[in-house]
Amino acid sequence: MSLVPIRWVSQQECASREEDTAGTPPDASADVTHDVTSDVTQPAVKLALLDQRLLPGETREVLLEDARGVATAITDMVVRGAPAIGIAAAYGVALEAFVINREGGDWQSRLASACDVLAASRPTAVNLFWALDRMRKVIAAHATRSQAPYEALLKEAVRIHEQDLDDNLRMAEFGAQVIAASLAQGETRCEVMTHCNTGALATGGHGTALGVIRTAYAQGILGRVHVNETRPWWQGSRLTAWELVQEKIPARLAVEGAASLIMQQGAQTPEGVRWLIVGADRIAANGDTANKIGTFSLAVQARAHGIKVMVVAPLATFDGTLASGADIPIETRGADELREAGGRQIAPQDIDVFNPVFDVTPHEYIDAIVTEHGVVESPDSDSVGALLGRAMRR
Ligand code: MRU
Repeated sequence: MSLVPIRWVSQQECASREEDTAGTPPDASADVTHDVTSDVTQPAVKLALLDQRLLPGETREVLLEDARGVATAITDMVVRGAPAIGIAAAYGVALEAFVINREGGDWQSRLASACDVLAASRPTAVNLFWALDRMRKVIAAHATRSQAPYEALLKEAVRIHEQDLDDNLRMAEFGAQVIAASLAQGETRCEVMTHCNTGALATGGHGTALGVIRTAYAQGILGRVHVNETRPWWQGSRLTAWELVQEKIPARLAVEGAASLIMQQGAQTPEGVRWLIVGADRIAANGDTANKIGTFSLAVQARAHGIKVMVVAPLATFDGTLASGADIPIETRGADELREAGGRQIAPQDIDVFNPVFDVTPHEYIDAIVTEHGVVESPDSDSVGALLGRAMRR
């Protein structure tokens, strides 16, 4: 089953859906790439996001009509995952251009404030700012036009979307090669652990860390995936487990607190856990990596058990302006994410709550960063700088 987390909806489809304002299940058989490109030549008026807050119980799309709606959907986690946030924001700018051209007015200042609203939706994933920079360049290139460059903006959003899927597939091949090369003599496959959701739901398609896992499984070198529940939002149990079950990839769910036990047992077992494989929301120039809260502690545990750590992220996730992870902004979210679960109170209403949703793993704990431009082993400022330099020259 293909997942369609982000879908551009044509005017024609919008018209036929008007009677069904509550939303209908997405067309799960549709191919993401085909879906976004086929409508480029037509005027389109809505962005459909698969509501990730409802998964796995319900598959329902949220239809959005302007940039402000997309920004709210990002803040509220209808769509989440660094690359997916960037893609959704890019479509949000195109959506706004369409609205502006229908309504009239000063398109340049309205589009500029739409970009600002989208940029304020979540702070940590740099893919959001990277995608908005690309959209701002398109806006600047059409500055003399009397109307907002809607077609050019939609084309750029589609390019960002398609490029992410392409990058995912490249990273998956590189990551699978790294796993294959790490197998001990006589070992034909191994198990891995992953954290959060880095799959089709979080990206333009295949996934980053989960993309490597998918490809490694298809190549027969992966035995089983240990999925961390990922408190407090349960991206692991609700989303990653859902994707893996649908693809029939052997997987086992556990709380993060079980990670050391699983690693301890797996490190001593033939074909046991060999890799912790995660995505990233922002990677500093020295390789320090911000990712879902808990990743740092898992990396420390992995080091203690002789298990290697792989970060899988496209270049869009690198922030070369930050020398180290110390300057990466860490999002903290509302107390109710900890005080409540499934609408039920699970902690005293008056308890003070700290809910940071990302942490930074120092580069010393990372064995490999896998990008679409190749793999950086034992990342540091020199090796990350060399990778970014090579990629810029291409
Ligand atoms: O809060 P989320 O669900 O947006 O956090 C997502 C993650 O931390 C992912 O690991 C990261 O974005 C990489 S996704 C390909």
